[in-house]
Amino acid sequence: MSEREKFYITTPIYYPDNRLHIGHTYTTVAADALARYHRLRGRDTFYLTGTDEHGQKIEQAARTRKVDPQAFVDEMVHWIQDLWSELGISYDGFIRTTDEQHMKVVGRIFTRLYEQGDIYSSTYAGWYCTPCESFFPRGRIEEGVCPDCGRELSWVEEDGYFLALSRYADDLLAHIREDAEFIQPATRRNEMIRFLESGLEDMCVTRRRDAVNWGIPVPFDEDYVIYVWFDAVCNYITAIGYGEDEDSFSHWWPADVHLIGKEILRFHCVIWPIILMALGVELPHKVFGHGWLTLGGEKISKSRGNVVDPFALSEKYGRDAVRYYLLREIPFGADGSYTERALVERTNYDLANDLGNLLSRVTAMLNKYCEGRLVRPGGEPAEEDRHLQEQANDAVAGATSALEDNMLSDALDSLWNLVSAANKYLDRTAPWDAQTAADRRSAILYNAAESLRILAVALRPFLLDAPAGIWEQLGLTAHRPVDATSWDDTAWGAIPDGTLVRRGDPLFPRMDPDEVVGPAEDPDVEEEQEEGVETLLDYDAFMEMDLRVGRVVDAGDIEGADRLLRVRVDLGEAGTIQVVAGIAEHYSPDDLVGRRVVVVANLQPTEIFGIKSEGMVLAAEAGKEMSLVTLDKDMPPGSKVK
Ligand code: ME8
Repeated sequence: MSEREKFYITTPIYYPDNRLHIGHTYTTVAADALARYHRLRGRDTFYLTGTDEHGQKIEQAARTRKVDPQAFVDEMVHWIQDLWSELGISYDGFIRTTDEQHMKVVGRIFTRLYEQGDIYSSTYAGWYCTPCESFFPRGRIEEGVCPDCGRELSWVEEDGYFLALSRYADDLLAHIREDAEFIQPATRRNEMIRFLESGLEDMCVTRRRDAVNWGIPVPFDEDYVIYVWFDAVCNYITAIGYGEDEDSFSHWWPADVHLIGKEILRFHCVIWPIILMALGVELPHKVFGHGWLTLGGEKISKSRGNVVDPFALSEKYGRDAVRYYLLREIPFGADGSYTERALVERTNYDLANDLGNLLSRVTAMLNKYCEGRLVRPGGEPAEEDRHLQEQANDAVAGATSALEDNMLSDALDSLWNLVSAANKYLDRTAPWDAQTAADRRSAILYNAAESLRILAVALRPFLLDAPAGIWEQLGLTAHRPVDATSWDDTAWGAIPDGTLVRRGDPLFPRMDPDEVVGPAEDPDVEEEQEEGVETLLDYDAFMEMDLRVGRVVDAGDIEGADRLLRVRVDLGEAGTIQVVAGIAEHYSPDDLVGRRVVVVANLQPTEIFGIKSEGMVLAAEAGKEMSLVTLDKDMPPGSKVK
């Protein structure tokens, strides 16, 4: 944290080449929770997100859909902003790299680095991964396969401009070694130290216009556009006025946290700091690389096709359930596996049972025994009351220190200590017991309600609807809306004397996981399942079919055939075959490249729309939905499927 008590946090700016999935949502929800916390602390907070709209990947996605890249990204950006609004993401700035100011300033930065010799012209010969928009110089990889995403690389040989990373490598390494806070968690810091110790090569920072046209033009050479990652990382300073509005820039910079996924660490911990060093600009305080959400042991990603739609989840379970699950289930910084069932169970156990029940118990007993009135206890607190108060203070102190360190799941763990302490306090003090004196009962219920009030405030960074629900049922809205509270309101003892509670609906309904997650959700699926298998196939007939794992190496539209795609599939030793597949309404060519699919490899070749088809790609169909049959492990192309 800087002394000026401001907090500037950023997420990666997302590629709008496709719809975002739950993994992207994870970073954004986490950054949102941190931004909300710092606002509650009264800090001047700026949370920046946005979209990374240039480069080959976007150019290709637009071409596939036969639209102009600008029109394409404009539409996708609306979808992304709708998603953030569904999840209540409270960003203060949304930068698009096609914004005029960003483009102008990036052009100037590029020229300045060229003029001072940090960018120079040379020739690049090596591999390029379009989905990752990454260069892989010759010698760094053995096969033509991307070490990050596993997809096929393209060989690129072109004259271009290089950024002199090697000039700054020693200074950067010294900085990372000296400032233990700069890269977090520590495992990522060590990873970057090892990477720098192994030697840093200069990096190509342009693409030739005849290869990629969709980018910021190099101001002094019309044959080139600026490499998309150079353009993208600059967003963190152009969005707050670098080179245009000095007051704004010096107020916000340096960033307090760049929150990113661990796969883009190198761009943020090496390339970005070196651009800043070359510009003579201070480095960000911290780059925090969080882990991945995985499904079946693999990173959830567009290229693996195992994506989970955050919109649908939020509509089904509510935004608080989705936010809570993401922030609590996965220890922040580590990888964590996603399952819908775990989301439902977390909602049931933590939100409906622990938190929701605490509220129902307290409001029901206050209505039953105290005419709904909260009376501030007088006299000396009992030992167990003091203990609850201590537990509340500890829970808030634990959450505060975890949040200062960006450890979101630890903060929730600490707050849940108070949820469970308050439930236990009720069990132990048994206010429902006929033996309990009326004023003792009233004091117990006040203390339990006070714990809930503190929780409503302290949960505001994480949950968006439940705090207001708790507040309303505790009768506090009449005094002051929950939105007007600050982190200081987590101090014990603030419910005004005589407050009238009003019992409401349960905060979170309990769900039956079998019912909500089971396969019977889609009536179309059920119908097809009931129809069952019509004829029995003998074993030998089945074994005659040659089913193989294939890796899609290329895919494209077929002129005049809206439902068909031409797909080239690598079958390992058996070579590469071409298949015409009726999947164009469900998958774009870009979606397919790199995927493992299952192919019938011994079909009689045929011609469809004048194009040779040598097999069949397997897909499941239910009503209007279609899903390619994929694998949950990375099996080599050509593996037999049986
Ligand atoms: O990389 N689990 O954009 P992008 C957790 N445009 N987080 C995940 C995830 C998963 N399974 N999958 C994606 C880019 N993410 C560049 C960034 S910044 C100057 C340019 C998150 O659309 C993770 O935070 O591919 C990752 O950094 C981001 O999505 C990548 O989004």
